[in-house]
Amino acid sequence: MADLYVPIDHARGGIAGQIAVALRDAVRHGRLEPGRRLPASRDLAADLGVSRGVVVEAYEQLVAEGFLVSRVGSGTHVAPAAARTPAPSPATTAPTGADRTFYGHRATSPDLGHFPRERWLASLRHAVTAIPSDAFDYGDPGGVPELREELAGYLRRVRAADVDPANLVIVGGVAQGLSLVLHVLTQRAGGLPLAVEDPASHRQVPLLRRAGARLLPVPVDDEGVDVAALRDRPARAALVTPAHQYPTGVVLSPGRRAALVEWAQDTGATVLEDDYDAEFRFDRDPVGCLQGLAPGHVVLSGSVSKALAPGLRLGWVAAPAELAEAVRRARGELDLGSPVVEQYALAHFLRTGGYDKHLRQMRREYRRRRDALVGALAEHLPQVRVRGIEAGLHAYLDLPAGWDEGRTAEAARDLGLVAEPVGPMRFTPGGPAVVVGFARLPAHRAEESVIGLKVRMSGQNID
Ligand SMILES: Cc1ncc(COP(=O)(O)O)c(C=O)c1O
Repeated sequence: MADLYVPIDHARGGIAGQIAVALRDAVRHGRLEPGRRLPASRDLAADLGVSRGVVVEAYEQLVAEGFLVSRVGSGTHVAPAAARTPAPSPATTAPTGADRTFYGHRATSPDLGHFPRERWLASLRHAVTAIPSDAFDYGDPGGVPELREELAGYLRRVRAADVDPANLVIVGGVAQGLSLVLHVLTQRAGGLPLAVEDPASHRQVPLLRRAGARLLPVPVDDEGVDVAALRDRPARAALVTPAHQYPTGVVLSPGRRAALVEWAQDTGATVLEDDYDAEFRFDRDPVGCLQGLAPGHVVLSGSVSKALAPGLRLGWVAAPAELAEAVRRARGELDLGSPVVEQYALAHFLRTGGYDKHLRQMRREYRRRRDALVGALAEHLPQVRVRGIEAGLHAYLDLPAGWDEGRTAEAARDLGLVAEPVGPMRFTPGGPAVVVGFARLPAHRAEESVIGLKVRMSGQNID
C-alpha cells in the first residue's frame, strides 16, 4: 500500500480538492505508479486528520477522471494507463465548478453504496440467459415492449399516471427524455419559448438551450410555480418539478396543479413534468403526478437515477400518443435507441418486485438520515431555515443574511456533505441558500457534520 505525501493547508479550505490535486500530481509525475494500491480512505483520513468523507470525495473525483480505479473488495489503485497518458498542464485540468457540472455526486444523488448489486445481477443474468437471440439485435427505438409494459403498470400504480405502453418511450434518463421532447417541439415550431422555474437546476439549462428552447423564468413560491406569472409569459411549454421542486423542495399545491393544467388547456401549451425524485416521499400522502390529471397536455419524464443509480442511464417519457411516436422516431434517427439487455433486466427487476423492495428499504433509511440531519440543524444551527424535506434526497437551507453561500457549501463539502450553493440556480437574485444531500450521510454522522459546519462558519455572525 502506498505511503503518501499529501500536503494540506487546513486554513485554506477545499480539503477534498487539495487531496485530489496532490494525488493527481503524484500520479502524473510517477511518484504513484500504475497499479499501486492507495491507502483505505479511512486510513488516509486518519493520517491527514480530516474526515473520511473528503478522502472519499477526492478518490471519487480521480476515479471519474480516470487516474484511479476502484473495485469492491480490492480497494483503490492507480489506473493502469494513468501515467502513460500525457497529462495536460495542471492549469487547464484543475477541477473547476464547470468540470463538475456533468459528473460526480449531486445533492439529489442516492447512496450508491446501497445499490442492490445481487438482485440487479440476478435480473441481468436472467435477461442475458432468457431473451431470444434476436433480441440482441437493434431494438425498437421506443424501448423493449416488456419494459414498457412493466413501467406502464408501475407508473399507473405508484404515480397515478395515465399511461399505456404505446405512449412510453424508454430513454437514457430524464435528461435525454427532455432533450428529445424539446428537439421535437422546437423543430416543429422553429424554436420554443419555454417557461422554467426560478430557481431551477442549473445543470439542465445548457441542455434546454442546446435543444433550441428560449428560457422564460417564472418565480416559485411556497405553493410551487406561480401560474399567474406564467400566464404573462408567451410560453408554448413549461418545464416543472411538481412532486418536489428543484431546488426549493416545494410540492406544487392542488390549486396550482389545477391552474397549470387549465393554462395548458387554454393555450394549447405542453407541460413537461420532471418527476426526478418522486419515489421518495416521507411525511405526506403520495402525490400523484400531474400527467394523470391531464394526459393530453402533460409529458411525464422519470428515471431510475434516484431509485437505483444515475449510471444506469435508464428512464422514460410518457407523452400523448402522437408526440410519443414523434419522440420514438427522433430517437431512432438520432442514435437507434437504448441498450437492450439493461431494459430487459429492468423489466425483470420490476416484475419480480426488486424495485419496490429496494424503494421500501431506501425510503426507511433516507427518512432516518433526513431526520438526523434536520434534528442536528435545529439543535446546532437554529438560524438556518430548513425547507423542502417532505420528499426527495436533499434539503434546502435558507442561510442567515450575512452568510456567504459559496463558502458555506465549500465548508459543508469539506465535512463530507454533498452541498451546492443556490445562486447559480437562480435567474433572479435571492437570499443566500444551499442545497444539501442527505442520502449519503449516515444518521450517526449528521451531528458531527453539523457541529463542524457551525465551527467553520463561526466567523460569519451566526450567533
Ligand atoms: C431536477 C433534476 N431533474 C433531472 C435530473 C436528471 O436525471 P436523469 O439522471 O434521469 O437524467 C436531475 C439529476 O440530478 C435533477 O436534479
